[in-house]
Amino acid sequence: MTPEEIISQHARTQDNLLNILHDLQNNHPEQHITREAMDLVARYLNMTKSSVYGVVDYYSMLSLKPRGKFIIRVCISPVCHIKKAGTILVYLEKELGIKSGETTPDKLFTLEVAECLGQCQEAPSMMINEKVFNNLTEERIKEIIAQYK
Ligand code: FES
Repeated sequence: MTPEEIISQHARTQDNLLNILHDLQNNHPEQHITREAMDLVARYLNMTKSSVYGVVDYYSMLSLKPRGKFIIRVCISPVCHIKKAGTILVYLEKELGIKSGETTPDKLFTLEVAECLGQCQEAPSMMINEKVFNNLTEERIKEIIAQYK
C-alpha cells in the first residue's frame, strides 16, 4: 500500500494524526516515517510540516530513522529498573552486538529503551514489535531472541 492509500483510509481530522503516523510506520518495510510521508500527512490534515514533525519527534514509539524488522523495547521505568532492567539491556546489547538505539547490520533487530509498558507486576519487561515478554532473565532472553533469528 502506498503512503497516500494509507493516509486516505483515515478521516481527514487532526484527531487521527497519531493513528495515521502509526499506520505509516507499521507499513514501511524499515518501520519508520519518512519526511515525504510526513509532508503528505501535513497536507492531508491541513497542518504545518513542523507540527507533524514535532509529533513524530516527541513520541518515542515513532521513528524518523530506518529500523530493523524486529524492534526490541526494553522498559527502563522504575519498577523494571529495580528488577535489574539495566542488566537486561546490557545483556541484549552484548547478545546483539549493538548499543541501544542501533540496528543490527543484517537489519533484523533494533534495540530501544521504553517507558513503562504497563507490565510492572511481572517486571522486568520488554516488547518485540507488538508482543510483550515479562519476567525476563538472561536465559529467557536468549531463548526469545533465538526464536526471532
Ligand atoms: S516499570 Fe516496566 S513495565 Fe512498568
